[in-house]
Amino acid sequence: MSQLVAVVLAAGLGKRMKSASPKVLHPIAGRPLVHYPVAAALLSGADHAVVVVGRGREAVETYLGGAFGQRVSFATQSPQLGTGHAAMQALPLIPADAGYVVVVYGDTPLVVVDDLRRLCAAASATPGAPLAMLTCRVAAPGGYGRILRDTNHRVIGVREDRDLSEAERGLDEVNPGMYCMRADFLREGLGRLENRNAQGEYYLTDLVEMAVQRGGVVDVPGAPDNLVGVNDRAQLAEAEERMIARILRRIRLEGATIRQGAVIDDTVEVQADAVIETGVVLRGRTRIGEGARIDVGCVVTDSIVEPGAHLKPYSVLTSARVGRAAQIGPFAHLRPDSVIGEEAHVGNFVETKKTVMHRKSKANHLAYLGDGEIGEGANIGAGTIFCNYDGYQKHKTTIGRGAFIGSDSQLVAPVVVGDGAYVGTGSTITKDVPADALAIGRARQENKEGYATRLRGRLAAAKEAAAGSKG
Ligand code: UD1
Ligand code: CA
Repeated sequence: MSQLVAVVLAAGLGKRMKSASPKVLHPIAGRPLVHYPVAAALLSGADHAVVVVGRGREAVETYLGGAFGQRVSFATQSPQLGTGHAAMQALPLIPADAGYVVVVYGDTPLVVVDDLRRLCAAASATPGAPLAMLTCRVAAPGGYGRILRDTNHRVIGVREDRDLSEAERGLDEVNPGMYCMRADFLREGLGRLENRNAQGEYYLTDLVEMAVQRGGVVDVPGAPDNLVGVNDRAQLAEAEERMIARILRRIRLEGATIRQGAVIDDTVEVQADAVIETGVVLRGRTRIGEGARIDVGCVVTDSIVEPGAHLKPYSVLTSARVGRAAQIGPFAHLRPDSVIGEEAHVGNFVETKKTVMHRKSKANHLAYLGDGEIGEGANIGAGTIFCNYDGYQKHKTTIGRGAFIGSDSQLVAPVVVGDGAYVGTGSTITKDVPADALAIGRARQENKEGYATRLRGRLAAAKEAAAGSKG
């Protein structure tokens, strides 16, 4: 095939979303809607995609420029006068030597590369027909343009939903909005479009009827699951459900066990033999290593879990890193820049933030460890708090290798506890502790023999006196 260029239409208002943000930026499985059709078009054989933007165009351009770099360029459509008018705006950016143009809509996230390849192959195999299009039959055709055929079953046009006659309304073959056209035909056809229809718009779909007169239309059947358009939030939810099912299937076939009910973004990587339990949500740039186990209800965002680590139920990780064979949770909260070393343990109700825990260190119960560094093999007792914030600045707590912090201690940062040091239970540590020292920072205990008996007598008498005075 001579040079193939893609055009993606993404300027529309998306009114039916009832949203302040542009439709094509609504997320599906962790990426904006428009990411998927652009990615599919660029994998289908086009080296370059011209994206037509309008509503929220700065944000759309910023995202796509970041994701696809030089492979995308942008044409602006303003005002938005229909899909045909949108395609017109792309024409100046289509190189003169382009032979074919594959046109897709930015709101069809489930489009698969294979369908676009078949479409383009069909177009180039039939050079006399200037337009090839996908078609499919759906159970609920409402909202879609319908395919019109003649008595010989040849495609003769597309009728938009709002322009249907009563008789046509029953047609269940629809236009998914994916075309491969000869570039010369596209230029000429767009120049001749008119807007005499129910919406007063320039319909790209009118090119189908024009193509019939100029040599014919090649129709390529596709599966409805891959072709649905997203116009409202109900369709957004359905499309996301299908997308997630696809992602889970891909990861399962790559060798990980994923239980029903896990939700995994398209941006996540899961290696073989990992086990992802039900109710787990994996988002963003998360990577789960080989054989790692992510237990029920964990929410992991932008984090790396190294091979063999175990996140026990209901742990929440954000921009954190968990080393090999480490154990986290249940109910642990690793906040940004937490780095948990190999075989380290972070137990229930422990919160870490910007804290490095070196190999085999442990904080097994109820702790806040913010802005810290915890040496290899150190043990942090239950109820320990790193008092990192003075209301103005954050300060660091450093715990040496093999140090032992007794339960219910507060370490008032900045403070350093040396290697092998021991902090007595219930201490408030405000000064550095030398290596191998014992620090105790609490009131000394005093016992008063027999005092409890006397105290009870006094308290009981006071109660009786109070009751008597009320009469
Ligand atoms: C369109 C098709 C319909 C098809 C359906 C498939 C037309 C006239 N209709 O209808 O036949 O069955 O898609 O999903 O083409 N857009 C612009 N500028 C505009 C208008 C739209 O860039 O002025 C973009 C939108 O951002 C969107 C895409 O084009 O990504 C489709 O627009 P939309 O309004 O959703 O068209 P449908 O009514 O779904
Ligand atoms: Ca649509």
